[in-house]
Amino acid sequence: MSPRKVIIDTDPGQDDAVALLLALASPDELEVLGVTVVAGNVPLDLTVKNACIVCELAGKPETKVFAGCDKPLGRKLVTAEHVHGKTGLDGPVMPEPVMPVKDAHAVDFIIDTLRAEPTNSVTLCPLGPLTNIATALTRAPDIADRIQEIVLMGGAYFQVGNITPAAEFNIYVDPQAAEIVFKSGIPLVVMPLDVTHKALTTQPRVDAFRALGTKAGIMVAEWTDFFERFDKEKYGSAGAPLHDPCVIAYLLEPEMFFGRHVNVEIETSSELTMGMTVADWWRVTDRPPNAMFMGDLDADRFFSLLTSRIALL
Ligand code: BDR
Ligand code: CA
Repeated sequence: MSPRKVIIDTDPGQDDAVALLLALASPDELEVLGVTVVAGNVPLDLTVKNACIVCELAGKPETKVFAGCDKPLGRKLVTAEHVHGKTGLDGPVMPEPVMPVKDAHAVDFIIDTLRAEPTNSVTLCPLGPLTNIATALTRAPDIADRIQEIVLMGGAYFQVGNITPAAEFNIYVDPQAAEIVFKSGIPLVVMPLDVTHKALTTQPRVDAFRALGTKAGIMVAEWTDFFERFDKEKYGSAGAPLHDPCVIAYLLEPEMFFGRHVNVEIETSSELTMGMTVADWWRVTDRPPNAMFMGDLDADRFFSLLTSRIALL
């Protein structure tokens, strides 16, 4: 079978970086048509630079990287340096990237690519705020039909929130964009905190990355070391959740994830609960299902997939 065509929309971030490495290490299954970058964990200039650092680390400087929206549709940008450090990729010292960023805007690339590729042949993988994707859908509604699926990291139900008591970071940063995506009618698979908080690094899992002895393996271990300190302190957990790699792992081995096809609506008006993903997990309304909302994964299998693929870089 030919590899599945994907566009990865991202705001790196250490966990985005691991997701990108996983995708770039899996050319038999995934053809990365482009990496579109959005402001989120840190401002756009840094997320673009970080995307290039990761592509170079993967040994794939030919990857097409596009800069996208530098702020949410209708709100001020909220960033997460408190989690990811001031560069967004704090931890190990990284070389300055030299690969070029493409001239086109990320949104134009998404629109043009979807129009050029056969219907239903491209999967979008958003790992950050949904600003680029929503802008593309608003500007070119005809592309909705052409998307095979959107597999995204965002939201929470049982875990509620990580940036406010009620909201997960990616959805909170641009709730208007999230609403457009969740109302689009495009098949959605959602990796909320409910599942990503089970994709936890532990000492043996981080040691396994480090033991690969490769540049990529050591970087992943050092990024997770840095990224862990925040979550260990906040949640008292054994390690840190590798949120965004869940999206790519789903494309590679979907059977390791478990969820429900339910209705999910986005709160866009109340400041108190702004960006909340109101998931009808118990099916108490007759609102039609619009998303496969994940709740669990086989964490050992997830980490063994990650380690074996990172080993290939
Ligand atoms: C999400 O927010 C970001 O900090 C991470 O990269 C992930 O995409 C988790 O809430
Ligand atoms: Ca992210």
